[in-house]
Amino acid sequence: MTGFFIAVSAIIPRAMGLKYYIKTFGCQMNVADSREYRLALEAYGMTPSVREFDADLLIVNTCSVRTKAEDKLVSYLGAAQAAAKDNPGLKVGLVGCTATLIGEELKRRFPVIKFLLPATEVDSFTEVVLESIPGFTAFSRDLSGSIGEKERFERYITVMRGCEMFCSYCVVPYARGNVRSLPLTEILRRCDEAVSEGAKVLTLLGQNVMVYGRNPEDPSDTPGNFNGLLKAASDRHPDCWIKFLTSHPGDVTRELVDLVGATSNISKHFHLPLQSGDDKILKDMNRGYTSAQYRELIEYINRTVPNYRISTDIIAGFPTEDETAFENTLGLVRELEFDQMFTFQYSHRPGTAAVKWEDPVPFEEKRRRLRKLIDIQNEIVLRKHKALEGSRLPAIVYGPAYKSPAKLTAVSRESHVILIPDSSIEPGSTVDVEITKGKQRTLEGRIVG
Ligand code: SAH
Ligand code: SF4
Ligand code: F3S
Repeated sequence: MTGFFIAVSAIIPRAMGLKYYIKTFGCQMNVADSREYRLALEAYGMTPSVREFDADLLIVNTCSVRTKAEDKLVSYLGAAQAAAKDNPGLKVGLVGCTATLIGEELKRRFPVIKFLLPATEVDSFTEVVLESIPGFTAFSRDLSGSIGEKERFERYITVMRGCEMFCSYCVVPYARGNVRSLPLTEILRRCDEAVSEGAKVLTLLGQNVMVYGRNPEDPSDTPGNFNGLLKAASDRHPDCWIKFLTSHPGDVTRELVDLVGATSNISKHFHLPLQSGDDKILKDMNRGYTSAQYRELIEYINRTVPNYRISTDIIAGFPTEDETAFENTLGLVRELEFDQMFTFQYSHRPGTAAVKWEDPVPFEEKRRRLRKLIDIQNEIVLRKHKALEGSRLPAIVYGPAYKSPAKLTAVSRESHVILIPDSSIEPGSTVDVEITKGKQRTLEGRIVG
């Protein structure tokens, strides 16, 4: 008996029984990285904590893109520091973009932070945890039970890291470093793994996937460019929908648009951040395209790709944006009628080029412009949603809707989110949905096949 216990305790690592929690702020890149961290911690025998501050190890994956994001983080860390009084075992690992930019400062301010992992070093997660929390031994276990509902059917696959565009307002190049393209074999292996775990949608992810191929981690293992990768992924998984995010409008080639148009399992949704519709502002932002070039790109997509969908990002109140420049943005937004728009009030970010400029646009004026953009876009979206009534879209059922669990959420190839008042369909099924009602925020539909 004694021998048996000794043997068992020898293979159970110290991390067994320890609880982790991962708090994720920021974009899909962070969501994808957090998933890797979760798998790594579970491979070390840690189990999820139900309540964040009850954990032994709290990983905080951070975002610095706007001041608001950093403010939110600072108040969260304040709460974690206070919770450490009741849970003295609590250790925080600060990871991601803010860790790169001001990690040391935050670590001094909040002693509950025990280690930092900058966003440029996501691959060193395990080593850093090992160094900071001694006593961990590798321990492999079956992770299939721990995969969440949405993740079961849609998986983000990081294909490139970093950004070298240096848009004048943006911290991402400083936070995430230069472009590195992941090896083809590794990306396809992750796609295969996701599919074997039930994924039906694979989203190829990067700050600008259009430059995939640049600076390959393994020069002998690359398809050359993003078209090659997209083709390889879509050929290999013909039963999956392949999506991609984000595409810098200045780097989208005609060949890419042609490939998307011609391949039935590639999503026809393009996320093409416009940022501004005024040429001077685009130049000041260092975006590398003009409003005319952007318009030409949309026209080419319109000619080449049936049933496409376009989303965008716009910044309101950039320091050099005057009333005329803002009107130009409104004009282009009205003209192009985006299917979805993410709007941001300009936020000064330390270290960026634009922060050094004078900013005569008062906060309230930035806010007014933001509201105006939102109002215009709301009208456009409502009109577009109504126009979809009666049309049919294939969609994948993800599971019960987040806010109304009696309904199902289904997602189309072009990323329309549709609510279906029916709970009898098995999650993961591909169904034909007829859109019955287009509302401001949602589409409603019924299953017709
Ligand atoms: N790589 C993506 C965007 C990453 S950041 C791309 O280039 O499209 C997401 C969005 O945040 C940007 O598109 C931009 O609209 C917004 N953003 C970035 N920095 C900002 C700032 N300083 N103030 C306001 N919005 C900002
Ligand atoms: Fe930021 Fe521009 Fe890079 Fe996008 S392309 S992450 S906005 S620097
Ligand atoms: Fe934020 Fe970093 Fe993403 S700054 S938006 S988490 S790349």
